[in-house]
Amino acid sequence: MEIVNSAKDMQMVAEDYRLEGKKIGFVPTMGYLHEGHLSLVRQAKKDNDVVIVSIFVNPLQFAPNEDYESYPRDIKRDEDLLKKEGVDVLFYPSVQDMYPDGFQTYVQVENLTKVLEGRSRPTHFRGVATVVLKLFNITKPHRAYFGKKDAQQLIVIKRMVRDLNLDVEIVGMPIVREEDGLAMSSRNKYLNGEERKQAVCLYRALRRAEELIEGGVCDAERIKKEMEDVIKRYPLAEIDYISINRISDLGELDRVEDGNTLVSLAVRIGKTRLIDNMWF
Ligand code: PAJ
Repeated sequence: MEIVNSAKDMQMVAEDYRLEGKKIGFVPTMGYLHEGHLSLVRQAKKDNDVVIVSIFVNPLQFAPNEDYESYPRDIKRDEDLLKKEGVDVLFYPSVQDMYPDGFQTYVQVENLTKVLEGRSRPTHFRGVATVVLKLFNITKPHRAYFGKKDAQQLIVIKRMVRDLNLDVEIVGMPIVREEDGLAMSSRNKYLNGEERKQAVCLYRALRRAEELIEGGVCDAERIKKEMEDVIKRYPLAEIDYISINRISDLGELDRVEDGNTLVSLAVRIGKTRLIDNMWF
């Protein structure tokens, strides 16, 4: 596995692949890799001739009060995991290389970023869209892989690709979960023993929503109320939001629309903020 640290070098490597006629699959990450990340890598391996993975904890998508400094990092372990998966290139740039002095150009996806995560984290998606566009320009992928775990991120990136005519196919991948249902996340590392046990409440609430929807319940208020009741059984959990939205434009739904409904929630467990969702 080749490790590339500068954007300029990465562009040259990617350009060479393109000249050789190779299809490039790209998986952007912030590292501290788990099976969720690796599921994207494996799909990228299947679909493409070469796979590029980036590891970059992007300061632009963290607000000043958030966990940029303490975000978990373990580059040696990540390198070993990616080598085992047969990844061709690891792009691992510095903050200075990605955001040199004088940097002042940003990508703002407007309406989709005003709701859900965007309401709690108003500058987050500007940081995500900006870094992802930069990473696309640097790694020149034919396909890029994103998890449904970050549902709004996936929807925002797809919108950016359409709106800016980016020549890349966005592939959305299912959420990978722990045995008890907790969605895998680098941030799960923050949870202590009791918090980890109670973190299952997000999945339990989603399963309740699933049960109701499969039983023919369409009323969004009723579903959200029942999800809230599930979460309230866990004393360490504090709800940030529970929301039911149209997938196409993230507009809030009064009634579940078959095939176009995102049920999502954000819950604080102690100091750790977790998100999860299901698509119906
Ligand atoms: P990160 O949180 O490291 O996630 C990288 C990719 O892995 C994202 O597409 C995310 O949705 C996916 N992912 C995370 N947990 C998953 C799980 N349990 N199952 C399936 N996929 C999962 O998301 C980011 O980094 C950043 O915002 C980034 C896109 C790299 C831009 O900085």
